[in-house]
Order: sequence, then structure tokens, then C-alpha cells
Amino acid sequence: MKQIIMDCDPGHDDAIALLLASRSDQIKILGVTTVAGNSELENTSRNARKILDYADIFDVPVYAGCSTPMMRDLYRLTGAIIHGEDGLGGPTLPDPVTPIEQEHGVDFIIRTLRQAEEKIILVPTGPLTNIAMALIKAPDIKDKIEKIVIMGGAVVDPGNITSAAEFNIYVDPEAAKIVFASGCNIYLNTLDISMKAVFYEEDIERVRAQGDKVSDIVARLLDFFADTHVKHFGFRACPIHDALCIGVLIDESLVEFQKVFLDISVNDPLTLGETVADLWGITGNEPNCYISMKVDREKFVDMIAEHMKKPYISKN
Ligand code: BDR
Ligand code: CA
Repeated sequence: MKQIIMDCDPGHDDAIALLLASRSDQIKILGVTTVAGNSELENTSRNARKILDYADIFDVPVYAGCSTPMMRDLYRLTGAIIHGEDGLGGPTLPDPVTPIEQEHGVDFIIRTLRQAEEKIILVPTGPLTNIAMALIKAPDIKDKIEKIVIMGGAVVDPGNITSAAEFNIYVDPEAAKIVFASGCNIYLNTLDISMKAVFYEEDIERVRAQGDKVSDIVARLLDFFADTHVKHFGFRACPIHDALCIGVLIDESLVEFQKVFLDISVNDPLTLGETVADLWGITGNEPNCYISMKVDREKFVDMIAEHMKKPYISKN
């Protein structure tokens, strides 16, 4: 069983990533930590709990993490345009029953790793603030991290918030710089592949036709997400960026990775948040992460559709 901590900012695709993880018989979610990103922390923390409740998951604790990036104000505009004002536009879900735990998200990450008998996988699908803060506060936790599977960055193709940068990395570039320089075993699922693993109208209808309540909410989340992509980016197809991080844990053949050296632009306003990767090995820098190069879209669509039909089975 793969033991993971989901660090997220739901967010439509974060929500679907949570649902996918919860429906996999290979993954145990030890806890969910939330971060400011697609919306303010209060909203992302509420959205995470709404989704868990809806999907009958009442044994996964939720911890609120950092409410702002490490050194910058929260950049809100694109998050709101794409995900709605409260970060989870579209279906109306009841207020959550699952409480917010008292402990801070960063402290939960540190405590859980320190107490772990087996190594744990961190899955950050929002800005990297909580992960960077945990690594700074408690560098000893690195020994307990099996890998960090991140959604973020755009290496080959353009960004989605500036021409150079992808949203998660742009929101907290200093945090990203700390994480990539940490020496941890890092897998990065970039926009380069998430924009090639899109759901088309017929894929959304396939999920909706399954008829169960989790498939239904996924279809309704994707309806909203597809609409905002038409308005903002001019195409009607729906990436589910964050769920790819869970997808590669379920089936590692989903994405092909290449080991490279990668650093983050933090000083230049033009390229702020850019994930600059040495694809040809010309800098002489030791590779520090694996970046995604290729994805099997059909496999991803099948994986999402098949898993959403399954009931939640507690792994406690
Ligand atoms: C990333 O930004 C957010 O809007 C999504 O949730 C995803 O994590 C894609 O750039
Ligand atoms: Ca996200």
C-alpha cells in the first residue's frame, strides 16, 4: 500500500485527484493538507472537506496549512477565473461535516513523517508553500520521504499564467526553488503533459453515464472546468492536471519521465516562476528531478472513469 499525504488547493482537478486516490486500492491517504492557491486557504480547506464528505470519506483528517506564499501576496486572479470565486465553482455542495484539525498542516506533515515506520509519498498539487516550510523547519524529514510527486511547471510548452510560468510554481516560486534544491526524490508532472491528457466532451459524458454519485460530481466539475477553459483559453477540452500525480502512483506506465536538472526563476519579472530544465545536460549540474515527457491520454481517461465507479473502502 502506498501511503500518501495530499497537499492541495481544491480546485476542480485537486478534487478529482482526491477522489481518484480515495478509490484506488493501492493508495492510503494519511491526511490532506491545504494551501492557498486556487483560492484563499479558508476556501480550499472547505472545498477539500466538502469533496471528502460527498464521497463518503470520513476517516481522512484535513489540516489547514499556509495562507500565503512564503514571500509574496497570493496571486488570485487566474485561480478565480478558472475555478470560480470560492475555488470550486459549479455544483453546490453542502457545508462540510469533516472538521478542520487543530494542528497546522506543516506540523502534520513533519509529525507524520517523523513517526512513520515506512517512507511516505508527498503529493503536492498546489503551490509548494507547505512542503518548503516543512523542509525548512524539519530537514530531517527528508529521510522519510519516498518521493514528492508534484503537479507544476511547464518545461517545453508555454505556461498558463504567463508565457513562461505555470500557476502553482508562479504563485510561490521561492517555495518551489527550495523544494527542487532539497535533494528529495522529485517527480514533476508538468503542463506539457497535463494539456495532452485532456477530457473531451465524450469523455465527460462517458463518466456521467456511469450514473453513480461520484461519477456524477466528476462530470459536473468537468462541465464547469471545460466552460472556464473555453472562456479563458479558447478551447473546449478539459485538463485534470492534478489527478495525473495520483495516476502515476496507480500505473507508472501512464507517464514517461526524464531525469534532469531543474531550477526556478525567482529574480526576473519576465520569467518569474519558470521551471528551467537542462534537457540536454549542457550545464553540468547534477540532475535533481524527473520531469514528465509523455502521457497516455486514453489510459488516463479509462483510469478516471473506472475508479470513479468504485465505492470508498477505508484503509485504516
Ligand atoms: C494547476 O493550477 C491549478 O489551477 C490547478 O489546480 C493545477 O494544480 C495547473 O496549472
Ligand atoms: Ca491544484
